[in-house]
Amino acid sequence: MSGVNEIRSAFLDYFAANGHERVASSPLVPRNDPTLMFTNAGMVQFKNVFTGLEKRLYDRAATAQKCVRAGGKHNDLDNVGYTARHHTFFEMLGNFSFGDYFKDRAIELAWNLITREFGLPKDKLLVTVYSQDEDAAALWRKIAGLSDDRIIRIPTSDNFWSMGETGPCGPCSEIFFDHGDHIWGGPPGSPEEDGDRFIEIWNLVFMQFEQLGPDERVSLPRPSIDTGMGLERVAAVLQGVHDNYDIDLFKALIAAVENVIGSRAEGEQRASHRVIADHLRATAFLIADGVLPSNEGRGYVLRRIMRRAMRHAKLLGAREPVLYKLLPVLVSEMGRAYPELGRAESLISETLKLEEKRFLQTLDRGLALLTEATDGMEEGAKLSGETAFKLYDTYGFPLDLTQDALRSRGIDVDLDAFKTAMERQKAEARASWAGSGEASSDAVWYPIRDRVGATEFLGYDTEKAEGVVVALLREGAETAEAGEGEEVSVIVNQTPFYGESGGQLGDAGTMRGEGVTVEVLDTQKVANGLFVHRARVVSGRLKMGAALELEVDHARRSRIRANHSATHLLHEALREVLGTHVAQKGSMVGPDRLRFDFSHPKPIEFSELETVERLANAVVLQNEPVETRLMAVDDAIALGAMALFGEKYGDEVRVVSMGTAQEGEKAGRTYSLELCGGTHVKATGDIGLVHVLSESAVGAGVRRIEALTGAAARDHLREQEARVRRMAQLLKVGPGEAVERLEAVVDERRRFERELAEARKRLAMAGPAEGASPAQPKEIGGVSFVGRVIEGVAAKDLKGLVDEAKTALGSGVVAFVGVAEGKASVVVGVTPDLTDRIDAVRLAREASAAMGGKGGGGRPDMAQAGGPEADKAADAVSAVEALLTAL
Ligand code: ALA
Repeated sequence: MSGVNEIRSAFLDYFAANGHERVASSPLVPRNDPTLMFTNAGMVQFKNVFTGLEKRLYDRAATAQKCVRAGGKHNDLDNVGYTARHHTFFEMLGNFSFGDYFKDRAIELAWNLITREFGLPKDKLLVTVYSQDEDAAALWRKIAGLSDDRIIRIPTSDNFWSMGETGPCGPCSEIFFDHGDHIWGGPPGSPEEDGDRFIEIWNLVFMQFEQLGPDERVSLPRPSIDTGMGLERVAAVLQGVHDNYDIDLFKALIAAVENVIGSRAEGEQRASHRVIADHLRATAFLIADGVLPSNEGRGYVLRRIMRRAMRHAKLLGAREPVLYKLLPVLVSEMGRAYPELGRAESLISETLKLEEKRFLQTLDRGLALLTEATDGMEEGAKLSGETAFKLYDTYGFPLDLTQDALRSRGIDVDLDAFKTAMERQKAEARASWAGSGEASSDAVWYPIRDRVGATEFLGYDTEKAEGVVVALLREGAETAEAGEGEEVSVIVNQTPFYGESGGQLGDAGTMRGEGVTVEVLDTQKVANGLFVHRARVVSGRLKMGAALELEVDHARRSRIRANHSATHLLHEALREVLGTHVAQKGSMVGPDRLRFDFSHPKPIEFSELETVERLANAVVLQNEPVETRLMAVDDAIALGAMALFGEKYGDEVRVVSMGTAQEGEKAGRTYSLELCGGTHVKATGDIGLVHVLSESAVGAGVRRIEALTGAAARDHLREQEARVRRMAQLLKVGPGEAVERLEAVVDERRRFERELAEARKRLAMAGPAEGASPAQPKEIGGVSFVGRVIEGVAAKDLKGLVDEAKTALGSGVVAFVGVAEGKASVVVGVTPDLTDRIDAVRLAREASAAMGGKGGGGRPDMAQAGGPEADKAADAVSAVEALLTAL
């Protein structure tokens, strides 16, 4: 008897030996299908390979694919626990041919595997074929030697497989195993086919067509093969059990439930054990693939699964969080085949614990309400929609949890009334948006948000995904399509583009669909979770409903990531250096640089900045993985995570941790721990280098630093170095001596300036300047007058010269006109004994007027004025003389 792990390996080994590429399972969140909630078959990752859109290096492949069938079109959630073969999570083993082999080889490979490798007895096997597919029937006869009564022709869509309304499809042939006549049931196509005796174990799809629309089907470029074998089912067959939940893997999980909760998997409790075992797998794998519980989309399906498991744990008597305690068993059973499980173990564990803690707070009260509301109800009765809605809204009971809780009593929920209550709540929310301040700018978005729901953000895990256009706007109004060159706002159901928030700028990139290319310039997050892509149609026509390949500009996003992570490191380093009063006041994280504003009362010393930079870079060099976890706000803050004061946070937050503190009281613990919804580097080393550019004030008590990271930081430092080299070249020394040399040059220049000023003064007082009047005093009407034009002396130096001349004169009037850089200025001085007769201001104005100037000012003993016509400087002196003469 083989365990699940051996069967999986045997399958993959067999197909590898037969020329198939072993391909890893794709994530549960499909990257290449916008309409699919979760990957639900092995062929999902190959969809575009079948249609010829995508080429791979191989044309045969084999996989063990993680699948979830809960939420969306394939939804098995309600049945899990109550049947032998329903799962929310399961593994599908498959082999694929992309235009290589077709029916005959597919049948041969399948038959040989199950009869020779797996050793299943031929007389326990039978097959179905699509009624019109005579080829397949003939091949089964020939290859397997099956008699006609074991080849059952099925005329219905049961034997025509399609992945959805569109996509690759074709007739199929299914292999059934007969568990024996001790179990009730008949072969497929018989009236008893719903019984459990004959179980389908493998579906071989002969992919031949592509469904383009309801009535449009075309042939695939090359006929191909897609097969799917449920690993849990085939394990049951090989292990000689009838029930999937009796295989080794589930036995181990159910034993763990028994141990942890202390209840036996017997009688009525059996279903609860199964629910928990199944839901634990779905939960763990979904979280490992980037889904976190939330109130919308995939996150809500996960929440429903988790809460359903929690109610069953409660039924078994658990009073505190228990599901996370089961995780180590799951990791030991499946972690080797799926290493992502081990990598995400702590995230899964914490997310489970948190969800359980929160839900347990309302679960009891909700169940009490439910008991009260259904007291005395008969089988077949209906719980009021209002009560179901109250359970949903106030106590966090997903609708299916309420239904599940009532199942054993045969009571249903009044679904219409539930929907009405839900609609009413939405209308109330709309009304309150309309009244909120936020609404005015977002008015156009709320109705759209209400109609299409929040955009699912995939960008924490991928930069590339498909999305469907759910709203399109041009010039602020909705439109059905837009043409080349037009600027539009595009909303898709899911996106890898980050919408600007928390200081991090939105992503740019491209969107491509059939015949259309769109350039995304920016992405904004509005109206509570709606991502708006501001874009331009580069070519073709963009239409509502179009499926688009969305691709984030990788280089730009990588730079943003590095800058965002560096902001966290700088924040912590600033607190370390300046003190814990440092709190974030704002930030801007773009592709080119980062800006961080924080509370601090005074300028930061250069040496402090250097230390901040050094500390941040030390964590960069640690190159440790950056971790993100989901936590309750209170828990995160209790743990010491930094949060923005006054910021609105949801109940649960992402907590980003980076590096290990080397010094201080935090030594050995996480260096930076922050609440943050942004995107970050994988390991701190990806930041490369942090370089602080500047420090400045932005307001009272708020400082700002700006910094660069990675290549931008390096380029900047290179430029700085080039400047130093150029400087050294000019100074004719090596870069190492440039500073010393420059100091000497600056000293020298200072000395020259001093000497020059002295020389000018001497010149002004004594020697005759070119074409100027003599420095000797003149007697004008009994008053001594010295008037001169002095070249090269600026206004600021004139006053001192006039003062000196006044002192030398003892009694008299001095008028100096300085000419420098094409401008003239005049300063007139009058000794105190003369100020009652002579006004310096008046003289200065007269002088200024002579040079085309106006005005002038000062005191009666010292006044100053200017004039634009410097060539008339001598006239200014003459004008003063003339006025003195006239007095
Ligand atoms: N794609 C096929 C299935 O899911 C094999 O059954």
